[in-house]
Amino acid sequence: MRIALFGPPGAGKGTIAGVLTKRTGAIHAATGDLLRAEVKKQSELGKRARSLMDKGELVPDSLVIAILEERLNQPDAKKGFILDGFPRNLAQAEELERFLRRRGENLEGVFDLRAGEELIIRRLSGRIICPACEAIYNIRTLPPKVEGKCDRCGVALIQREDDRPEAVAVRFREYREQTEPLLEYYRPQGLLHDVDAGSGAERAADEILTILARRRGAAAAKG
Ligand code: AP5
Repeated sequence: MRIALFGPPGAGKGTIAGVLTKRTGAIHAATGDLLRAEVKKQSELGKRARSLMDKGELVPDSLVIAILEERLNQPDAKKGFILDGFPRNLAQAEELERFLRRRGENLEGVFDLRAGEELIIRRLSGRIICPACEAIYNIRTLPPKVEGKCDRCGVALIQREDDRPEAVAVRFREYREQTEPLLEYYRPQGLLHDVDAGSGAERAADEILTILARRRGAAAAKG
């Protein structure tokens, strides 16, 4: 599986990617998670990224492309990948295409996760994450088994700095201005599919897998 998930902040990209990873073995390549890991390590890259991320602004393309390519070059990515948060603008989309072409690969599908803005804002206000393993919870819809603790590693859960209302507003603006226009880059290539992300994540994952199976069937029939 080689796919990209699109959708505004809080649409459920990370949550649905988590479900797909469990079901298919493809890796979840989330540039936001990769950047947050650099911030935690206090690497040079992390230091440059941090202030931009906290404000909700995009990190320079060269930094993001480098960490994404490094992730996709790791052996476990051979089983496939689910891109979350990348590409985010035209330059990143073109670079991704060149990178995949060099490997003799292409994207099998691009999925636009659709959910209403009011619902998304409610989701973001309730999101808590594990700073160690990046597991995603929600105080209302997906609480951890023990309050405030990660189910997987027991670490204390936190709110993301960029889930403050001011940063959420900037992230929405960046999405509308820079990322949403990319949908028109993928539509003419016949890769783009809308997916309802307003109800359960399992159901959205089912929809994605059904579409992919149909695409593969059609490609096989063509020979
Ligand atoms: P990133 O981490 O990619 O943030 P984002 O795109 O704003 O997306 P989110 O992670 O906020 O939301 P999501 O759609 O994954 O929702 P989630 O599944 O968590 O990027 C952060 C920053 O990094 C950027 O602002 C930028 O600075 C930088 N960056 C990253 N990539 C970059 C790039 N390519 N170029 C430049 N800069 C880059 O769900 C949200 C909540 O809703 C959770 O609590 C979840 O439990 C709940 N929820 C989700 N789905 C459901 C459902 N179906 N039902 C009920 N609850 C649900």
